[in-house]
Amino acid sequence: MTARLLDGNALAQSLRADFKTRAEALAARGTRPGLAVILVGEDPASQVYVRNKVNACAQAGFHSEKITYPPDVDPQVVFDRLAELNADPTIHGILVQLPLPKHFDSDAVLKAIAPAKDVDGFHAENVGALMQGHPRFIPCTPYGVMKFFADAGIDLRGKEAVVLGRSNIVGKPMAMLLLQASATVTVCHSQTRDLAFHTRRADILVAALGKARFVTADMVKPGAVVIDVGINRLPDGKLCGDVDFAGVSEVAAAITPVPGGVGPMTITMLLANTLEAAEREAG
Ligand code: GUN
Repeated sequence: MTARLLDGNALAQSLRADFKTRAEALAARGTRPGLAVILVGEDPASQVYVRNKVNACAQAGFHSEKITYPPDVDPQVVFDRLAELNADPTIHGILVQLPLPKHFDSDAVLKAIAPAKDVDGFHAENVGALMQGHPRFIPCTPYGVMKFFADAGIDLRGKEAVVLGRSNIVGKPMAMLLLQASATVTVCHSQTRDLAFHTRRADILVAALGKARFVTADMVKPGAVVIDVGINRLPDGKLCGDVDFAGVSEVAAAITPVPGGVGPMTITMLLANTLEAAEREAG
């Protein structure tokens, strides 16, 4: 292994210690940061993510509410609950875990969250603000990735950055943040011709395409920084990323592992956004 390991657990731990201190200071002034998490259905991965989010809140001294609905719930029930949460002064952040069951209009649900409490940054108003360069909330996963760059002292100006994946949750906001940091950004996706042509040019490579060990050493430029957003379960039950860690870490200058890389940072930045929402509310 020659690449420097970008340790998400260590970075998350130090940030969360700071958030806990800030949450205690805020609570002493009468405002405990509060997050509501809505989960519809029984998707096992979503259940794990939601449990981890609620546990992270407890550890940081935040108030949290986990609200669960059966998969066949009438969407109006969720809209009514969102209206209550929007008006609830003890709740500063609201998150609806995605994906939602097929009978839901996900865009309509995201739009029903008050933009000032949209700690995922998925409401169209917040997406627009990010696009215009003055974000209110930065989506948690790309926000966590940007923290890796800042923490490791990686200057993005003028760098060739390649993002694999164009989802609203990761790929698109990631590209926007890299662009704002003055990287030259290419977004690749399932229809991209000769993907390796693009990845081999990348000084910064962010893999968020959801395919186990897709990025191999021959696709990576020597000395690149490789960020692995993928979380894939192998047939033996183990987790792995979108990057072939063993091979790529012989070529890259720096790399995030899976698990222990981007994953813990995503939840950490959810805490950051919830805390920021509470601090704004408290003035
Ligand atoms: N599903 C997968 N990632 C996310 C996320 O960051 N936020 C929400 N709400 N749902 C998700």
